[in-house]
Amino acid sequence: MAAAFRPIHIWLSRWIKQGRQMKLETDVLIIGSGVAGLLFALKVADHGSVTVVTKKAAVDSNTNMAQGGIASVFGAEDSFEMHIEDTLKSGDGLCNPDVVRQVVSRGPHMVRELMDLGVRFSQARPHRTDAVPTAPPAGELDLGREGGHSQNRIVHARDMTGREVERALLSVVRQHPNIRLYENHIAIDLIVRSTRMKRGLVTTTHESHCCGVYVLERDSQQVITFGAKLTLLATGGAGKVYLYTSNPDIASGDGIAMAYRAGATLANMEFVQFHPTCLFHPAAKNFLISEAVRGEGGVLRNAAGDPFMAKYDDLKDLACRDVVARAIDTELKTRGDDCVYLDISHRDTAFIEDRFPNLTANCRKFGIDMTTEPIPVVPAAHYMCGGIATDQFGRSDIHHLYAVGECACTGLHGANRLASNSLLEALVYADSAAAKAIEELGKGRFTEVGLASWDEVGTTDSDEQIMVTHNWDEIRRFMWNYVGIVRSDKRLARAERRMQIIQQEIREYYWDFKVTPDLIELRNLAVVAELIITSALHRKESRGLHYNIGYPRRDDRVWQKDTILRRPVVN
Ligand code: SIN
Repeated sequence: MAAAFRPIHIWLSRWIKQGRQMKLETDVLIIGSGVAGLLFALKVADHGSVTVVTKKAAVDSNTNMAQGGIASVFGAEDSFEMHIEDTLKSGDGLCNPDVVRQVVSRGPHMVRELMDLGVRFSQARPHRTDAVPTAPPAGELDLGREGGHSQNRIVHARDMTGREVERALLSVVRQHPNIRLYENHIAIDLIVRSTRMKRGLVTTTHESHCCGVYVLERDSQQVITFGAKLTLLATGGAGKVYLYTSNPDIASGDGIAMAYRAGATLANMEFVQFHPTCLFHPAAKNFLISEAVRGEGGVLRNAAGDPFMAKYDDLKDLACRDVVARAIDTELKTRGDDCVYLDISHRDTAFIEDRFPNLTANCRKFGIDMTTEPIPVVPAAHYMCGGIATDQFGRSDIHHLYAVGECACTGLHGANRLASNSLLEALVYADSAAAKAIEELGKGRFTEVGLASWDEVGTTDSDEQIMVTHNWDEIRRFMWNYVGIVRSDKRLARAERRMQIIQQEIREYYWDFKVTPDLIELRNLAVVAELIITSALHRKESRGLHYNIGYPRRDDRVWQKDTILRRPVVN
């Protein structure tokens, strides 16, 4: 990647102005600027022109918010087999074992690659007098612990891992002559060409190729047609579909919704992970209290001050996330409390401040001193385990369309992601997808297509912005109440009915008015919400993150399979 001689690809900035519209062609188009998008960009950039499009500033990514770290086998007591076993156990029977092995075994290599790119991970502290017994010796990576892991294996940069990885990758990306970064550009839809093969009267094969993306520039409100040989969706998750989430505002499921509209196959959308511990404070928005706090000895207590996790699982506070989130939900509902408490105040103050500088500082801003008092916490939507179904190279079933990171469903997470396996997955898949993309670019089998400009004939500026804000709020609220941690067929059916009305309103509004960033996000959010509801209604059992009180047990005879969704093809 860091070649001494780097061929500069002549930028195909064939800007064509057509009325208000622009066209730009590039070899590789990447939507999203988190770890998956940036690492992929760096890896393919010596083989073609690369364009990264991101809807806010480049640092506004899910990666940037990741506190925990990258799960990987470095500890003397650890092994790939143990990490594989923990991942499979957490995934509750739905992981693809081949994918798990591939990802886990590539972990150490990818971590070292990040270090070569300038990422500074925390080192083991020889001075740590009250360190947990399994901490590695001095001079090596400091390995944290999180729920569901049988060993200390979380490589981290104190409690700001995502920020550190993003900083290092962005600074290399910004210097690369073949990569252009477009901030404040929001993708609207994929441009897909379809070939249908007919046998008699029946359409038997339906092949689609992705040729680029329509993108709205926020400032000028212009729609730009980006033509590309290869497109990567690295748009992150969809936490904003729920009222309470640990995710940043950008997490509106854009990649998943665009891929679905374009006809790609999606999988396992019912498996939404709720992080057990987000700060409960009226002024705090999306503030996660890392699971690493429990990894360092933090204990969950109810409002009476009693530790409660032993009632729910032998692993107590370090049980898998689905178990802990449900346990908190049960405590809150049975006791009628607003929140539970996470207490690490028994640990040494200097240690807490050194290990969690970001958390201690932010809690203090809200008047909470985590070195001396428990932190009020509640569960919140955190991670989408389902997404665009991909093969081991991150390829979707639309030709020339890749998906990597949270928007993808590779088979690693199954029904419940093991903590800190997501950055790991993003790194491994960015690497294997880039290798495949370079091969595809080398073969050069791309047919030139004239791309139609964005059609906004007949649309006017919106006169009813209230439709967008109202529906946005309504979706997030009923998703939280009816499609949350504990589900039932009755609640899901209620959500489905409301969703149908909202979808109709959005469709009418979308065709009548010019697109705006808010409308694009609402439209995507609605698609993702509908897909979650449909998938949850379909699965008549409880497994991993999907818990339905009507079917409280896991049923392997019928349901040990992925939930597959594809938009119906209209012949
Ligand atoms: C955390 O720090 O608790 C989040 C890590 C993750 O979601 O994997």
